[in-house]
Amino acid sequence: MQQFDKIEALREQVAAWRAAGERIAFVPTMGNLHAGHFALVELARRHAQRVVTSVFVNPTQFGPNEDFSRYPRTPEADARGLVVAGCDLLFLPTVEQMYPFGAGHCVQVRVPGLTAELDGAARPGHFDGVATVVLRLFNMVEPDVAVFGRKDFQQLRVIQYMVRELSLPITILPAAIQREADGLALSSRNQYLSAEERAIAPQIHRTLLAMRSAWQQGQPLSAIEQDAVAHLDEAGFDVDYAQLRRSQDLATPQQGERDGLVALIAARLGRTRLIDNLEFDA
Ligand code: PAJ
Repeated sequence: MQQFDKIEALREQVAAWRAAGERIAFVPTMGNLHAGHFALVELARRHAQRVVTSVFVNPTQFGPNEDFSRYPRTPEADARGLVVAGCDLLFLPTVEQMYPFGAGHCVQVRVPGLTAELDGAARPGHFDGVATVVLRLFNMVEPDVAVFGRKDFQQLRVIQYMVRELSLPITILPAAIQREADGLALSSRNQYLSAEERAIAPQIHRTLLAMRSAWQQGQPLSAIEQDAVAHLDEAGFDVDYAQLRRSQDLATPQQGERDGLVALIAARLGRTRLIDNLEFDA
């Protein structure tokens, strides 16, 4: 596996592959890679001859009181895992490469509408930072396909909106959520959990499953949401939201609309914010 931190070196290698007629798949990450990320790399491999993975902890998507400085950085372990997963090139840009005039002076991308809700409401500016860095990365790598996990469902929809709206010649491949045996969605932030919090954390997935069975039984959507919040509260979470949305565009479902829904939860345990979701008829 090749490893570059300079845009020029990345571009040169990608251009050589493209000249040889090879398709390029891209997996953007913030590192501290786990089986959820490696599953993305494996999916990427099935859709292209070459896989590029980026590791960049992007300052512009973290709020001032969020975990940017303490976000886990494990470059050696990431590189070892990526070799095993079959990645061809690891791109590790510096903040200076990514934001040459400084993060505070960068050209920004803002996706309207859905970025103001759910995680966008809880984390103002977060999705602007995500869209800003992903467009830059797309411009550097110029992939044919790019893989995003369904774990960050709203992020996936934001990226799909941006790609369609800007006519970017990139196919977005969504990847299934990877979970622990007890249902907890894999996340770099899980390691912030104390043993006690870790024991409670799978209640998020259990609540999503309960929301789905209540929906299958025909319960009203508002009652399903209220029950979910009550259950999570009782389990010890500080709930940001537990909602049913239209999976296509994350709009609030109309009265009587029951197909194509996704249940989304964001909740805090102590200092750790966890998100998860479940598409009902996927
Ligand atoms: P990061 O949190 O590192 O996630 C990178 C990719 O891995 C995302 O597409 C995310 O949805 C996916 N992923 C994480 N955990 C997963 C799981 N348990 N199952 C399936 N996929 C999972 O998301 C980001 O980084 C950043 O916002 C980024 C897109 C790189 C922009 O900075």
